[in-house]
Amino acid sequence: MIIAVLNQKGGVGKTTLSVNLAAALALSGQRSLLIDADPQGSALDWQAARKGQSLFPVVGLAKPILHKDVPGLAVGYDHVVIDGPPRVNELAKSAILAADAILIPVQPSPYDVWAADEIVKLIQEVALYKASLRGLFAITRKIGNTAIGRDVAAALKDYPYPVAATAIGQRVVFAESAATGLSVLEAEPKGSAAKEIRSLLREVLES
Ligand SMILES: Nc1ncnc2c1ncn2[C@@H]1O[C@H](COP(=O)(O)OP(=O)(O)OP(=O)(O)O)[C@@H](O)[C@H]1O
Ligand SMILES: [Mg+2]
Repeated sequence: MIIAVLNQKGGVGKTTLSVNLAAALALSGQRSLLIDADPQGSALDWQAARKGQSLFPVVGLAKPILHKDVPGLAVGYDHVVIDGPPRVNELAKSAILAADAILIPVQPSPYDVWAADEIVKLIQEVALYKASLRGLFAITRKIGNTAIGRDVAAALKDYPYPVAATAIGQRVVFAESAATGLSVLEAEPKGSAAKEIRSLLREVLES
């Protein structure tokens, strides 16, 4: 499956989800490839910070015709994850064109719910000539079992894509592990963050 992680909102956890989902795939024995489609190159930085062997290759492909290259690059891999840019632009559109499923991370804030409108419109534009395209929202950086988390899930119901049952919590291990190019599954294999990532991955693969 080709999964694009997209939202034009900055800092919602696109790169964090991308590297950890690609890691979860690799650690479960699947050949995964991560495409960094963000000119900031954060996923490439993540891998550069890593000592020792990589779990999966990261390829920088921040260009607006990446969808033309992805099928060739995907040969030999079971799954490809695309880490998208914080923009609604040709690059984001190209990532949508390349993907089978779009994962849209959204922080539990009303601003994020309103801002999702832009990326949803772009996905729907592409879906007009790509009917098989799926979309899935994931609530990220959720603090505890707060009411705002539940409110956001309810507000997202107005959009045409489902909300994953798994929310990703605000957990320091996401930032700490990233600093050394590790996934949360390696840093704390039995921790809550690792459980959330494995559970979200199952939902994405079943979407
Ligand atoms: N679930 C989380 N818990 C704690 N920290 C998080 C979590 N998700 C992301 N972060 C931290 O928040 C910051 C932004 O995350 P990230 O880079 O993944 O977002 P992004 O959507 O890729 O940003 P950009 O739009 O700039 O590409 C990073 O410092 C990251 O470590
Ligand atoms: Mg990013």
